[in-house]
Amino acid sequence: MKFIIRGGKPLYGEITLAGSKNTASKLMITSLLTDEPCTLTNFPRIGDAEITAELCRTIGSDVRLDGDTLSISTPKIKNSRVLELSRRNRIPILALAPLLTRAGEGEVPIVGGDKIGHRPVDLHIKALEALGAEIKVTPISYIARAKKGLFGGVINLGFPSVGATENAVLAAVCANGRTVIKNAALEPEIISMIKMLQNMGAIVELGAERDIYIEGVKHLRGVTHEVPSDRNEAVSFACLGIATGGDVFLKGAIQEHLITFLNVVRKTGAEYEVKPDGIRFWRPASPKLQPGLDSSRQGRRGGPNSLKSVYIETAPHPGFMTDWQQPLAVLLTQAEGNSTIHEAIYEDRFAYVADLNSVGAKIEVSKDCPDGRWCRFAAKGVLHVARISGPVELKGGGKFAVRDLRGGMVDIIAALVAKGESEIEGVEEIDRGYENIDERLRKLGAEIQRTD
Ligand code: EPU
Repeated sequence: MKFIIRGGKPLYGEITLAGSKNTASKLMITSLLTDEPCTLTNFPRIGDAEITAELCRTIGSDVRLDGDTLSISTPKIKNSRVLELSRRNRIPILALAPLLTRAGEGEVPIVGGDKIGHRPVDLHIKALEALGAEIKVTPISYIARAKKGLFGGVINLGFPSVGATENAVLAAVCANGRTVIKNAALEPEIISMIKMLQNMGAIVELGAERDIYIEGVKHLRGVTHEVPSDRNEAVSFACLGIATGGDVFLKGAIQEHLITFLNVVRKTGAEYEVKPDGIRFWRPASPKLQPGLDSSRQGRRGGPNSLKSVYIETAPHPGFMTDWQQPLAVLLTQAEGNSTIHEAIYEDRFAYVADLNSVGAKIEVSKDCPDGRWCRFAAKGVLHVARISGPVELKGGGKFAVRDLRGGMVDIIAALVAKGESEIEGVEEIDRGYENIDERLRKLGAEIQRTD
């Protein structure tokens, strides 16, 4: 399937954010810890959740989606081996925790996910082993056993991995005794999982210095829990609105989840306003045409370019999130000066740069950390720094093949900024994480059609 997009005009209007992709699937896995029914509201209609529903059904869940309410109930674990499922997302490894808790064993396929670099699961395995599980890695699967049950322990995460923290929390809540997770990730997605677990009867405490303390309990009950809005959607649509020179209101955007991004928006010279029910983003109009500047250096509504270059470095929460750098990169092609994005979470997250350069962007990718900055990829020879010179006029006529979920959003934003028609192939990957993206963008005035 592909999108045909005619871009080059500012987008205006309101868009309601869907429930967070990276929370929704994890909460389905969380529900596997109880034999009672759970209800998840504000649930997104995305491919990733369907893949996870298939996984839960294989394990023994009854899963129903009615509007944006998902009901999931797993009275019995019917199947603790879920090997037949393909490696389409990274969720199966998290299922090991509830399978160990309720069945004493589990086998899940080696996980897939985006093509964004080496994605090891050593920290997941160490976390489960610290609680008494025995793990065997085969060429196609992870086999976990805890015949005598899981026991509280100390888990020291070498890096505050989101997935490994989630696995550790899920395994510890019903383990026998007390667990300490050190150097834990504290992303809003994890806090949502902890809130749901607390309402199910778990005892989870957040300490200082990225510590999480958990007292294991014997039984968890069913719960109704709301999936928070997707902060990655928020950033994608905010960058889209600003990059096209438009004005968008993101209903449901949560300031607390976006603090670092909002600071960057301010530094670029774009504007935002936090309202009770969401956040508005826009690119300020510049008052006068500036004589002597060529058209690409003038702001979209006349006058000197109102967007300025910035330096950003991705980091675990509360830092600038790695999933935000791709839409921001498109915005920065429209900003005056040289911007730098230093990617310190994933080693291979700049493949999308080739797409942008093919339609007129000027981005160089390098292996060297910027002067005076260091990250764990410094001596690894991986392309983890992008230098963006702007502003440039992006050209229509682009033909993109979606590389990964967030790279697909880059293609959409670039096509909507560029004057003329562009084509994006392989939009199924975008559907995995963005609900009805074409329909929702049309409400902002985007000319986007889906064809086979
Ligand atoms: N890492 C290890 N060992 C591990 C686990 C992670 O070395 O056992 C490393 C990874 O290789 C990576 C870094 O730690 O360099 C961060 O990985 P993390 O475990 O934090 O990420 P994740 O749980 O695999 C989730 C999101 C990603 C998001 C990251 C960072 C889901 C399903 N995925 O991945 O989202 O970028 O956290 O916030 O929640 C996306 O939505 O497109 C996406 C890739």
